[in-house]
Amino acid sequence: MSEESLSTVLQQDHSFEPSDEFAAKANGKAEMYAAAEADHEGFWAEQARKYVTWSKDFETTLDWSGAPFAKWFVGGELNVAYNCVDRHVEAGNGDRVAIHFEGEQGDTRTITYADLQKDVAKAANALTSLGVGKGDRVAIYMPMIPETVVTMLACARLGAPHSVIFGGFSAEALHTRINDAEAKLVVTTDGQWRRGKAAPLKAAVDEAMNHGDHPVENVLVVRRTGTDVEWADGRDIWWHDLVDDQPDTHEAQPMDSEHPLFILYTSGTTGKPKGIFHTTGGYLTQCAYTNSVVHDVHPESDVYWCTADVGWVTGHSYIVYGPLANGATQVLYEGTPDTPHQGRWWEIVEKYKVSILYTAPTAIRTFMKWGDDIPAKSDLSSLRLLGSVGEPINPEAWLWYRKHIGGDRCPIVDTWWQTETGAIMISPLPGVTDLEPGSAQKAIPGISAEILDDEGKPFTEPEKVGYLVLTKPWPSMLRGIWGDPERYKETYWSRFGPKYYFAGDGAKYDAKGNIWLLGRVDDVMNVSGHRLSTAEIESALVSHPKVAEAAVVGAADETTGQAVCAFVILRKEAVEEADEPGEGKDLVQELRNHVAHEIGPIAKPRSIMIVAELPKTRSGKIMRRLLRDVAENREVGDVTTLADSSVMSLIKEGMSSGA
Ligand code: WT7
Repeated sequence: MSEESLSTVLQQDHSFEPSDEFAAKANGKAEMYAAAEADHEGFWAEQARKYVTWSKDFETTLDWSGAPFAKWFVGGELNVAYNCVDRHVEAGNGDRVAIHFEGEQGDTRTITYADLQKDVAKAANALTSLGVGKGDRVAIYMPMIPETVVTMLACARLGAPHSVIFGGFSAEALHTRINDAEAKLVVTTDGQWRRGKAAPLKAAVDEAMNHGDHPVENVLVVRRTGTDVEWADGRDIWWHDLVDDQPDTHEAQPMDSEHPLFILYTSGTTGKPKGIFHTTGGYLTQCAYTNSVVHDVHPESDVYWCTADVGWVTGHSYIVYGPLANGATQVLYEGTPDTPHQGRWWEIVEKYKVSILYTAPTAIRTFMKWGDDIPAKSDLSSLRLLGSVGEPINPEAWLWYRKHIGGDRCPIVDTWWQTETGAIMISPLPGVTDLEPGSAQKAIPGISAEILDDEGKPFTEPEKVGYLVLTKPWPSMLRGIWGDPERYKETYWSRFGPKYYFAGDGAKYDAKGNIWLLGRVDDVMNVSGHRLSTAEIESALVSHPKVAEAAVVGAADETTGQAVCAFVILRKEAVEEADEPGEGKDLVQELRNHVAHEIGPIAKPRSIMIVAELPKTRSGKIMRRLLRDVAENREVGDVTTLADSSVMSLIKEGMSSGA
C-alpha cells in the first residue's frame, strides 16, 4: 500500500466484518459471551470437560477462598502429556502430523502423534533413570528443535515442573534461574543454528555451573550442531546415549489439577526476575480453549504456525500445550527469518500450506521494512487466519499484515495476555467480532477486564487513559511467584486492592467500547515483544567496575517497539580514561557487552550515554520521564521537581557534543 492510500485507510473509521464463510465454520460463537456472563464457573467447567480428558473428574470448579491464591477444578486429576499426545493416538489419529520441523540449515523432520508418543515415553523413561520424579524441577536451555518439546512433555508426564530458559539468556541469567528453582537436571544442546552459524549453547551451562553453588546433578545434552563441548564426566550425559535406547512406552500418572506444571521467569520492576508458576488443569483448559476459539484451530484440516520461541510463554501455551492438546498439526522452525534470505518465512508458509500464522508486531514491522515484494514471491493462499501477540500492534502494521500476508481476506486476532495470565485474555473472536486495526478489543468469553482511573474507580468514557485490571479469577492464572508468595500479592493484588488483578498496562476505550492497550505503566520495557526490566539492566551496568550509577529507559523504536537506552555515570578513574581520544567509544562497547554477558544479548542497550549527573528529585528518585525525552529527541518536559535544574542542560549539551 502506498503512503497515501495507507493514510486514507487510517483516517477512515472502518472495521472489518468476518466473512459469512469464516463465521459459519468458526469455533468461537457469539453466544459464548452471554453464557460465560450468566454462569462464569459453569462456563469454565464446561470448557474443562470439553477440551481436557480427566482421569478423575473435578468436584469444585473454583476455590477462591484463599484469594488471591486460586484453585481450579479441585479434586480433578489429569496428565498433561497424555492429553497432548496419547489420547490423540488412542482416538485413531496417530498418523496425523504433530510437528513439521524445519531446521535453519534446511534439514526437516516429520513427527506424527504416534512418533511423538514414543519420543515422549523414551524421554520420560530417561529422566526417571536420572532420578527425576514428581515435584523435581528441570531446567531446559534449548533451541527450537523437537527434543525441546519432547523434554517439556516428558517433564509434564512425570509431574516434574520445567523451567525453560530462553537460549538468548546468558550464563549469569541461567545460574540465577537454575538456583532459584533448585533444578536438579539441566537439558541443553551442544549448540544452536543462528543465522547460518553454529553458536555454542552448552558452554553457557558449563559457565553457570562453574559460577558457584548449584543444585544440578546432571546435564543432558542433545547433539545438534556438532560443536565441540567440554565434558564433566559423571555429570554430563549425551541424549543419544541415554534416551535412544529407552523403552518407547511409558504409563502416564494422573496429577492433581493444581500440581505445578512449570515455572517461567519474567522481568519485574525490581532487579530480581520473578518465577511465575502455573499449574495443571486450569492452565491446560484455557490454553486449549483459546487456541480453539481465538486461533480457530481445526485440527483435522489446519496447519498452524506460531513463530515464538519456546523460551517465552507464547511458546509454552501456543506451541506446546494449546495446539498439542487440541491435536493440531504445526510447523516448528528453528532459525531466524532472514536465513538464508528474507523470504524464508513465506517459503515455509508455502511449503507446508500454513493456514494459521501467529506472530509478533516487531516481526511484522521488520517485514514491512524489508519490502512488499518479498512475501509477494511466495504463494500465501493457504493462510486463513493471522494472529498478533506481545505488544501493541500499530494500525499501519496491522493493515500491512492484512494486505500483504493475509491477502485482504484473513481475519487478524490481536491477542493481549501475559506470562502471568498463562493464556489469551483480550482478543477478538475471528468469526464474531468486527475487527478494529490496532485494538485487542474485548475480553474473551469467560474473562472480565475493566479500566480504572488513578483512584481505582472503573470508567467507560472513551479516550480517557487508565489502568487495565482483571476482575475475576481465570483458569490459567499464575498461582504465584516461585518461593515468594508475598511478592505475588504485592505485585498484582495490592495496587487497587485485593479485588483487582493489576496487569501493569495502560489502556483506554474507544467510542465503540473497544479496549486499546497502551503499553506498560511500570518500569518494565517491551523490546521486540520481550519483557525487560529497567532495574535489572541498571544493576547489570552498575556491576561493571567502571560504572558508578546508571539509569535505563525504554525509548520508542520504529521496529522493536521500545529500545533500551542507558545513561551512565562513571567512576572517577574511568572518567579520566574515557576522556582519552577514542576511548569513550570502546567503553560504550565494553558496557554493552557487559550487559549481554550479565543478562543476554536481548538486553544490550541500543545507546549508552556517559553523563556527569542524572536527573533526580529532591528525594533522590531518578526522573526517567526526562531521560526518555532525551532518548526520544524531544523537548525536555517539566523540570521543576528536579533537585538540580541544571542537570538536564548538561545532559543535552553532552549529547550535542557527541559524548
Ligand atoms: C506484556 C506481557 C503475551 C505473551 C507475550 C508477552 C504486552 C502482550 C499485547 C497486545 C498490547 C501486549 C503487555 C503485557 N502485550 N500482548 N496484544 N497488545 N500489549 O508476554 O513477556 O509476559 O509480556 O506484553 O504490556 O503486559 P510477557
